[in-house]
Amino acid sequence: MIYLDYASTSLLRPEVLEAYERLLKGCIGNPSNSNHLGLELEDKLNKARKEILKLLGLNNHHVTFTSGATEANNLAIFGFARRNKKRGNVIITSRIEHSSITNPIKVLTEEGFVMKCFETKDYGYDYDSLFRLLSDDVLLLSLTEVNNETGLIFDYEMIRKIKQLYPHLIIHLDITQAIGHLEPHSYQDCDFLTFSLHKLGGPTGSGILIKRNRLQLQPLIYGGGQEDEMRSGTINTVAHLLYPFAIKLMFDDYQRDSNELLKELDKKLKDSEEIVINTKLSNSANHILNFSLRHKKSSILFEALNQEAIYLSTKSSCASRHQLRSNVVYELTKNEIFASNSLRVSLGHATTKTDIDSFTKALKRLLETIKE
Ligand SMILES: Cc1ncc(COP(=O)(O)O)c(C=O)c1O
Repeated sequence: MIYLDYASTSLLRPEVLEAYERLLKGCIGNPSNSNHLGLELEDKLNKARKEILKLLGLNNHHVTFTSGATEANNLAIFGFARRNKKRGNVIITSRIEHSSITNPIKVLTEEGFVMKCFETKDYGYDYDSLFRLLSDDVLLLSLTEVNNETGLIFDYEMIRKIKQLYPHLIIHLDITQAIGHLEPHSYQDCDFLTFSLHKLGGPTGSGILIKRNRLQLQPLIYGGGQEDEMRSGTINTVAHLLYPFAIKLMFDDYQRDSNELLKELDKKLKDSEEIVINTKLSNSANHILNFSLRHKKSSILFEALNQEAIYLSTKSSCASRHQLRSNVVYELTKNEIFASNSLRVSLGHATTKTDIDSFTKALKRLLETIKE
């Protein structure tokens, strides 16, 4: 098997799996119970929360554990908008967001909120078009730091600038694809941050919403009042405890590797006349490369690669079963053919040079055999 789909979900990292197994055996009880077992787990979780905040350069924020980044994004967007209606009704986002940002905002438009999208240009963001939309009346700016389909980076310097110009504007940044794939930096200018464990080499079923302390949210899930009343339900303790370790491993990887393998892949794919690359390495993270086929159907190539146990994505996993074309690739290229025939390769901790060589060889061979 050649696994090139880390942006969809990472292969479990052996070191994280080992820690997970150890914790599964060692963690007994329910952290919301006040018996000694529960209190011990609560203490461990609180230590993990502190460590996570420190790793992300935050000092006046709080960690809420969720089931994944989708839930965390929903909680940030619905929770903040519904609780803070009086502050305004405009929510700004880009045209190429993950569906777990775009779809909650679309639902909110049925409740009287107004969605405004800024543009893309030259395979990147049109920051001028974003600044034109900003004002003191905006309720929320909701963005992704690294786009999950092409790896495009939203420049964090712009977030600093926006916070200086509009200190009261609330900023939500989804960093699901950014952790470990960008130079680690402080996120102190952000009011909400969201991400999940299964993109960091851990198991599925665990996500995080970080929020600035003073901000209030309306919960999405009601029940026993766990997670400071913000997210009821017994939490996935063992998985959540893995974050500090998993984040540190991702940061170490970044220092060791940056993006040599991705550069090599980019170079090899550029040799083929049939392929057009939708990711510009100069403004992208170190693990995603998106490309389109000029004349052939990507769905046929995808299937042929599947037959050879080479796994990648046609677009975001969260969209691939529902849509035929990639909205992200369309917005970046304004080309229907490229948008309907794109593929995403994403690398991770276990990817080797041999994987890249074998994949590119198979790709070239299959492209020669596939009819237009
Ligand atoms: C940028 C981004 N946000 C949110 C999500 C949703 O994450 P989860 O699968 O943890 O719900 C993903 C998953 O691909 C993602 O890439």
